[in-house]
Amino acid sequence: MLVVTKDNFDEVSKEAAKLLATLLRRKPDCVLGLATGSTPLGMYKELIRLHKEEGLDFSKVITFNLDEYVGLPPSHSQSYHYFMWENLFKHINVDPRHVHIPMGMAENIDEFCQWYEEKIEECGGIDLQILGIGANGHIAFNEPGSSLGSRTRIKTLSDKTCEDNARFFENKDEVPRYAITMGVGTIMQARELLLMAGGAAKADAIKATVEGPVMAKYPATIVQLHQFATVVIDSAAASKLDGSYSGF
Ligand code: PGA
Repeated sequence: MLVVTKDNFDEVSKEAAKLLATLLRRKPDCVLGLATGSTPLGMYKELIRLHKEEGLDFSKVITFNLDEYVGLPPSHSQSYHYFMWENLFKHINVDPRHVHIPMGMAENIDEFCQWYEEKIEECGGIDLQILGIGANGHIAFNEPGSSLGSRTRIKTLSDKTCEDNARFFENKDEVPRYAITMGVGTIMQARELLLMAGGAAKADAIKATVEGPVMAKYPATIVQLHQFATVVIDSAAASKLDGSYSGF
């Protein structure tokens, strides 16, 4: 695992965008695994800038998002469909036919999850998966206790996650209790992982992920077993690490 520590979150976002853009220039038809939440927003802004100012081309890219709330239609302002179009897709030249986001309104969720797994495989697998991390150590909506071999499925959100995400809704009760999420095993099959984190609220989760034992209590710790994983964090998220990690 390569741990890159930056002074501030702006630099984390720029570094992550640089890594993604490097892959995109090398492999224009790459398959990207994308994430939502506050963490990737700065990276998406930088990618939009690179597209507008430097012609970074997304026309051949295929994308798969990590997760989506069950019961929210794509038009809902807190759905991850809405998030992705607002914060990235509508600003770049991605082909809408190449975009895949779990369907929170799927009639048969199990069938949908199976289809999603098959679609990822049919597209050749994910080249680079972007990951945030929950303060409780979740990746995507794989909450503590998730099977480390799990595949795309429906999960119940933990109280901690509902509390953390309540800021986007009127109140905690409005936060959907279920989500469709890629599994930990699905994520681990990506050829490369890029986990980003910023802020002191993530320091414990980052400590467990980088220096703790691998355990289902902190699903993000599985990243230690990936051959090509990069963790890019700011100094606040790195503040509880014993080791010093200066980057490349
Ligand atoms: P955040 O969430 O980016 O909004 O902090 C990350 C996550 O829960 O995975």
